[in-house]
Amino acid sequence: MAELAPPGPVGAGATSGRTVPKRRYAAIEVRDLEKTFRIPRQQVNTFKERALHPFRRARYEELNVLRGITFDVLEGEFFGIVGRNGSGKSTLLKCLAGIYRSDAGSIRVAGRISPFIELGVGFNPDLTARENVVINAVMMGLTPREARARFDQVLEFAELQDFVDLKLKNYSSGMQVRLAFAVMVQSGAEILLIDEVLAVGDAAFQQRCFDEFLRLRDEGRTIVLVTHDMTIVDRFCHRAMLITGGEIETIGAPGQVGARYLERNFEAMSQRSETTQESSVAGASAEIAEIWVENDAGMRVETVPHGQPLHLHARIDVHGRVQEPIVDIWVDDENGARVFATSTRPWPEAPPAEAGQSLHVRVDLDNRLAGGRYHIGCSLLSGSATLAVVALVNRHKPFVVYGSSHVFGLVAIDHELHVDRESSA
Ligand SMILES: Nc1ncnc2c1ncn2[C@@H]1O[C@H](COP(=O)(O)OP(=O)(O)OP(=O)(O)O)[C@@H](O)[C@H]1O
Ligand SMILES: [Mg+2]
Repeated sequence: MAELAPPGPVGAGATSGRTVPKRRYAAIEVRDLEKTFRIPRQQVNTFKERALHPFRRARYEELNVLRGITFDVLEGEFFGIVGRNGSGKSTLLKCLAGIYRSDAGSIRVAGRISPFIELGVGFNPDLTARENVVINAVMMGLTPREARARFDQVLEFAELQDFVDLKLKNYSSGMQVRLAFAVMVQSGAEILLIDEVLAVGDAAFQQRCFDEFLRLRDEGRTIVLVTHDMTIVDRFCHRAMLITGGEIETIGAPGQVGARYLERNFEAMSQRSETTQESSVAGASAEIAEIWVENDAGMRVETVPHGQPLHLHARIDVHGRVQEPIVDIWVDDENGARVFATSTRPWPEAPPAEAGQSLHVRVDLDNRLAGGRYHIGCSLLSGSATLAVVALVNRHKPFVVYGSSHVFGLVAIDHELHVDRESSA
């Protein structure tokens, strides 16, 4: 009889799930870590410049990238690090890996580290994959003989057997990532540092990474993973940490840290979205003055329950005549995916919108959205010549959907689900 697999992470094995590791000592201990880069402000590069300004000293600007970081990663823990671009995540990982020297504070590591930091780090582009893998393994402390023995496993894992004698500089970036990831996984190190491994891999490779993450977690390896993908944090990590501007903002449960990270992103986005784009059509001018959400009772709300009617509203103030006006209104999810959009197109007979008029846009719909935060955008186009944008706001008004624990996709679609059991005999 064909049995359905129980719910849970695929390939997680018998010890799956987020079982807390039994032995609990710190595999990584970081105290008051600081890192400052000195960036030359005026560079004296050429001989002529040097001759003209013989006494000019190079001036430096100091960039405090890590500002007193203190945390522990426990042995056997899958630890996520998230934060906006430039917040200091890669710098922190490089300090842990010993690639950068810190300016203050201490790092104590119990165990052998294998880093996957960044494309190319630790590899020589002018050597072949074979040579790189062997050198890398020797640097990790293996004898040349062990290194050669490990070589086949690495290549098999990376699925790059046909490219062993190709110089690394001729590898695609995805192939380089596969090789580097395979080297890290096969190194046997107790502590793995991983920075954004999934960004350039293809779908098949990503799935292999996921399987590997689960296997390594079940084996009790200590893993520090930097990522921007909150579903990965949620799915794999025991704990996570949010870094903002070189400081720890939160450490805790993955869901909570992920939510905070998304908030940080949306703050920046909603600030950006305030600008209303001005028209390129002569004379036409309008402004998306207001966007709001109402419940069925006609009250303005910012949270809406799943499964209830939902009303999106926008008011567009017209300042200069808009020929053949077209209104679009849409809803984006937190990842920027457009989950819903509608338009008055085709609306060929629409009379011009006159200066001084306000257009009140209303969309009535059933809220089928999964739980989470959404953003409404709206635009007014003029269809007189080619379509021209008169006014537009994107990700303008956020609202939150709750009460949808039974919705597993982006939206709930009416459907029937059947599971038939057949005997294989
Ligand atoms: N070698 C370096 N020399 C000078 N500045 C550097 C160096 N490496 C990083 N920085 C600066 O340190 C800051 C943090 O960079 P880092 O790479 O750690 O950010 P990140 O959090 O990994 O960002 P991302 O999400 O984009 O990968 C940035 O302002 C960056 O310009
Ligand atoms: Mg980085």
